[in-house]
Amino acid sequence: MTDLAYFSEAASTEVVNARIDEGKADPRLAAVISALTRHLHAFIKEVEPSHEEWLAGIQYLTKVGQTCTDWRQEFILLSDVLGVSMLVDAINSRRPSGATENTILGPFYVFDRPMLENGASICQDGKGEPCLVTGTVRDGDGNPIAGAVVDVWQTNEDGFYDVQQKGLQPDGNMRGAFTTDADGRYSFRTSKPRYYPIPNDGPVGVLLEALGRSFNRAAHIHAIVSATGFDTVITHIFEPGCQYLRDDAVFGVKASLIGDFKRTVDPARAAALGFGDAPFFWEVAANFVLTPATGAQRLIHQV
Ligand code: BEZ
Ligand code: FE
Repeated sequence: MTDLAYFSEAASTEVVNARIDEGKADPRLAAVISALTRHLHAFIKEVEPSHEEWLAGIQYLTKVGQTCTDWRQEFILLSDVLGVSMLVDAINSRRPSGATENTILGPFYVFDRPMLENGASICQDGKGEPCLVTGTVRDGDGNPIAGAVVDVWQTNEDGFYDVQQKGLQPDGNMRGAFTTDADGRYSFRTSKPRYYPIPNDGPVGVLLEALGRSFNRAAHIHAIVSATGFDTVITHIFEPGCQYLRDDAVFGVKASLIGDFKRTVDPARAAALGFGDAPFFWEVAANFVLTPATGAQRLIHQV
């Protein structure tokens, strides 16, 4: 029988996990750490890193930590580009078919966004091609949900969120929250979303570059849709013409979230909608379907 007091390559996992005191450790913590040990040791046994390679890995993770500030979370970004954020979200957002799917939250949501009237514009800088977003919020049986909040944000035409360009963009540019009417309807004006790079001037950017991977997020509008008695949906509306739909840096694209953007050439209607003398505008209908509250709500954090 293997003596688990002493380390050996063959029994490494068992030796480490045998030290957990089942009487003292929280059972979930014990389960998580023993699984982590098992997978980490299997990884090392597969890769067989040299000392230099292991040190390079440790130094890389150290840099990831050192890049984190009050407003930047490089570890979450690393989790995003490795597909881990999307996997954790998929496991925690299993919904019946027909319900709106979740996708990645991203680091640029802010709680302090303007509550706006339906039909209002979130585009304060006037850049980009005008776009009208309309839709409904309904339950799984098709009943409209009145009083639901559709909270949206996106980059401006230059590919930056307002919080990335304080002083350059007006605060609250390209964000706003809208409340559905008695028929479950909401609408807002914006500009057509465009692709943009995730923050790539840190260790995550170095890794993506070394792997020959794209930095870009497929063009999207973020939405958090919430209503009393329903699970909150954290999702996107993707632009179907974007060249990065199949190469999104954080794997956020799901087929059901690709919108049907139509280009409408109608200067009179554009003017009536509030798009001034725009010769054309884009239109997309984004309908959300919520599921009854399960209590398994995601904490929306800001880093
Ligand atoms: C975003 O869509 O805002 C985003 C998501 C993940 C990482 C960086 C940005
Ligand atoms: Fe985004």
